[in-house]
Amino acid sequence: MFQKDTYVERRKILKNKVGAGIILLFGNDESPMNYTDNTYHFRQDSTFMYYFGINHPGLAAVIDIDNNKEIIFGDDYTIDDIVWMGPQASIADKAALCGVKKVMPAKALGSALDKHKKVHFLPLYRPENKIKLFELLNVRPAAVLSSYSLDLVQAVVSQREIKSYEEIEQLHQAVNVSVDMHVAAMKYIRPGMTEAEVAAEIHKVALAAGGNISFPIIATINGQTLHNHYHGNTIKDGDLFLVDAGYENQMCYAGDLSSTIPVSKKFSPEQKEIYQITLSAHQAAIDALELGQPFKNAHMAACTAIFDGLKAMGFTKGSTSDALETGAHALFFPCGTGHMMGLDVHDMEDLGEVWVGYNGQPKSTQFGLKSLRLAKPLCAGHVFTIEPGIYFIPELIDLWMGQGKFREFINWDKVNSYRNFGGIRNEEDFVMTDKGACLLGKPKPKSIDEVEALRG
Ligand code: GLY
Ligand code: MN
Repeated sequence: MFQKDTYVERRKILKNKVGAGIILLFGNDESPMNYTDNTYHFRQDSTFMYYFGINHPGLAAVIDIDNNKEIIFGDDYTIDDIVWMGPQASIADKAALCGVKKVMPAKALGSALDKHKKVHFLPLYRPENKIKLFELLNVRPAAVLSSYSLDLVQAVVSQREIKSYEEIEQLHQAVNVSVDMHVAAMKYIRPGMTEAEVAAEIHKVALAAGGNISFPIIATINGQTLHNHYHGNTIKDGDLFLVDAGYENQMCYAGDLSSTIPVSKKFSPEQKEIYQITLSAHQAAIDALELGQPFKNAHMAACTAIFDGLKAMGFTKGSTSDALETGAHALFFPCGTGHMMGLDVHDMEDLGEVWVGYNGQPKSTQFGLKSLRLAKPLCAGHVFTIEPGIYFIPELIDLWMGQGKFREFINWDKVNSYRNFGGIRNEEDFVMTDKGACLLGKPKPKSIDEVEALRG
């Protein structure tokens, strides 16, 4: 945990921002896999973690703004639990560490909610917490997304999106271990292994560092599938292997990196050419990062570099700006250049992308641009990823080619000849500062020479 004052100060700011009423924040419960005592890895709710720092299941908190009261609700382990689990700190001890003096049993939560006052709650995503909300306030699970407090969402986003110095330190550490996970994969992959063996090698580094992974590992020879969590293929000479994996440290801060690795130790000439375009797009996005300017500029810079690079190779043609306007480039890059990162790998995605990435402005509905999670002007303290890629997706090629789409921008015969090429992505993490964007963590090997050198 951070020092007590950090949490006291965060809650004080939250109370001022929300202004009046009662704030109700749920921590997460244990989540059973197949019976109650056989649970998944416990993950605390990130907003609860931000305001209270207690990484413990089964808690909720009430912040009564009008009466300036803060209470944590939860039940201490019994002697029966302790026989099986070993000694456990009391909830009162944990609450004291974040500056909360009052704790009450879980069943007392209802009595702390004055039904005549506005009760602010967040857009809950766990079924257990939706059920609790129903029992407390009679809000049906299906109604949560239409009745949460927008004031609370906006207040939380405005605080959590600006990372403090002590948070940046945590993020540097999480990214450093993430780099180690990627370097381990770069050294390890050999033809004949399964993708699962590589995923295990990556996971081992995260577990050995004392934390865990920040999202399910992507370790695949089918990198053209953006979020491919299948690990059942055997790796062959000539394959491109895409890794997208990050570390989550003990404080729940995330790293998120991607790498693309030549299984045959050296990239083929075709792989080198496309890889080099993704590096140009990566640098173009970084060069476009500017304090006070929209992150969307970085995305458009990456799209331009991808379209132009592919034009030089004969895949695309025509006016680049017209192609980007119509969305033709999304054939190769159907997603966004980056997203916020912090206590969540996609930071605060549970609170709504339109607030986290767009300051409440509507998102584009165009294929490709609609998947850009961050577009708004950058402030000092924003932490985000840069992850442009080039993907040859056979299903999308077949669909659009069959529809005769974008004939003025796409050379379909050339594209079709690369239909089994796969996908390439690199990803790094940055913090915006008053002096410009700074890389988080140590540099990840990314150039062709750096990656090939690690292939032994
Ligand atoms: N690294 C997973 C993602 O950015 O979606
Ligand atoms: Mn990412």
